[in-house]
Formats: sequence, C-alpha cells, structure tokens
Amino acid sequence: MSGTSYPPEFVTNLEMQWGIGFLSPGGPEEVKEILRDIVVGGKTVLDIGCGTGGPDIVISRDLAPKRLVGIDIEPFLVETGRKNIAVAGLDKVAELILVEVGPLPFEDQSFDIVFSKDSLIHVEDKASLYREVLRVLKPGGQFVASDWLRSANADELAGYNEWQSLTSLSFSMQTTDETKVEMTVAGLEDVKTRDRTEWYAETAAREVKMMESGEWRSQFIAAFGEENYIKKLAVRIANARAAECGGLMPTHLFGRRAK
Ligand SMILES: C[S@@+](CC[C@H](N)C(=O)[O-])C[C@H]1O[C@@H](n2cnc3c(N)ncnc32)[C@H](O)[C@@H]1O
Repeated sequence: MSGTSYPPEFVTNLEMQWGIGFLSPGGPEEVKEILRDIVVGGKTVLDIGCGTGGPDIVISRDLAPKRLVGIDIEPFLVETGRKNIAVAGLDKVAELILVEVGPLPFEDQSFDIVFSKDSLIHVEDKASLYREVLRVLKPGGQFVASDWLRSANADELAGYNEWQSLTSLSFSMQTTDETKVEMTVAGLEDVKTRDRTEWYAETAAREVKMMESGEWRSQFIAAFGEENYIKKLAVRIANARAAECGGLMPTHLFGRRAK
C-alpha cells in the first residue's frame, strides 16, 4: 500500500464519525473489548497501524502498559497521532514511529503484546507480517488484534460487492480459516478468533442513522460539501449492508508465542 490512502481531509472525515484519534469503529469500548482478557499492566506493547493514536491513548491511559510503541506507514498520521498523545499527556509512555512496509524495525523478542486494530486489512503479505509478529514477541507474548475479514462466500453477496466497488481504500481481506492457517503456519500458538460481525452490523446501522440526522449531516456538509456527504453516506450504507449480509466480518484475532 502507498503512503497516501489517508490524506488529512479523509482523516477529519473518519474522525467526525468515530472520534478524534480513531480511524476505525467502536471507540475506547471496542479497544478494551479486544483486550478484555489480556493483562496489559506493566507490559511492553507494539501497535501495528496506529493511525492517529486513539487506541494508543486508550491503552496507555486506561490499561497502564510499561511502554507502548505505535507504528504506521503514513507520515501525516504518525505526526497527528504524536500530537494527540502529547495533548493527552501520555508521551512518556507512548511513542509513535514512522515505518516502511516490510520487516518490523525491532530486535527479536522486544514486546510482551503485539496489538493491532483494523489495520491488517491493508497488509497484502500477511504471512510475512505474522512471522514478524512472532519474531518481535517475547516467549509467552501475546498477539491480539481486530481485523476486517470476509466470509468464504463474500464474492457472491451483493451487499459485500457493492461496498467493495464504492470504497476508496485498498483492502486485502481473508476468511477466518485463511487467517487462522496463516497465523498458525507463522508459528503462533493457541490461535483463536472472536467474530464481531453482529456487533459491527448493529453499530454501522446506528452510524448510518446518525449520519442521516440533521445535526451530523449539517456539520459534515459544512466541512466537506453536499456532494461528499452523498458519496460518504452511500459508502457507509454499503458498508453496513456488507456486514448485515455477513460478507464483511470484523473479527478479533488471538495468538501466542510459545514460552
Ligand atoms: C483503518 S486505519 C486504523 C488506525 C488505528 N488502528 C485505529 O483503529 O484508529 C488503518 C491504519 O493502518 C495503517 N497501515 C496500513 N498498512 C500498514 C502497514 N503495512 N504497517 C503499518 N501500518 C499500516 C494505515 O496507514 C492506517 O493508519
């Protein structure tokens, strides 16, 4: 993926929907839901695809890691995320680093937890990424992520295909089985998934209603104009339908490096 998929106006557009610092749905509650069974306190955490830092602020502020490093490939996002973290007063715990696609720039066994929220969908070579996750995890360390997967029959579902044709982002989506196989082949153990499709379908439908409401609509049109509002609403309706028909499957992923 190139470094230009999240230009500033698109970031503002997404943050109007999901909150400052969040380029993915669910806010602080969903970040904590992903990590609900994981002890983060006192641990070192890597966040792959940190965006503008919302999830990093939640983890650093509420779950007390020893240290958190967020990485992303887009300079504007890293710069904005650093500002958000400084404003939250968390820059002694959390640090964001600009990286390139490819090997992770960390020593072997650097982190207790590798986290990621809705970013792996952009990664084409997931097999290599999972191998890198394993390499940088300490023995017994945990991989905990949320990703947007697709059902095995997604290509036959009109709702899913319509969303794929409308979205401006480039996605590389896998099924749950493909994901579990790649994580396992990479060497992760105790590989498990938690399907979040039902939650997301309800959330996305609620968000569409909010976007159609007068207040949100007026704010968006004031910022981006009516034509962009119509386009954005069409993408969001298609996205909600993609989840409703079961083609788009937001899913939590879990794995562990052997002790
Ligand atoms: C949907 S956003 C999610 C951002 C953040 N995790 C959140 O939940 O707000 C996806 C992010 O993944 C980043 N990304 C895409 N490919 C990446 C890669 N190979 N390595 C690191 N980050 C990547 C994008 O730049 C973007 O910030």
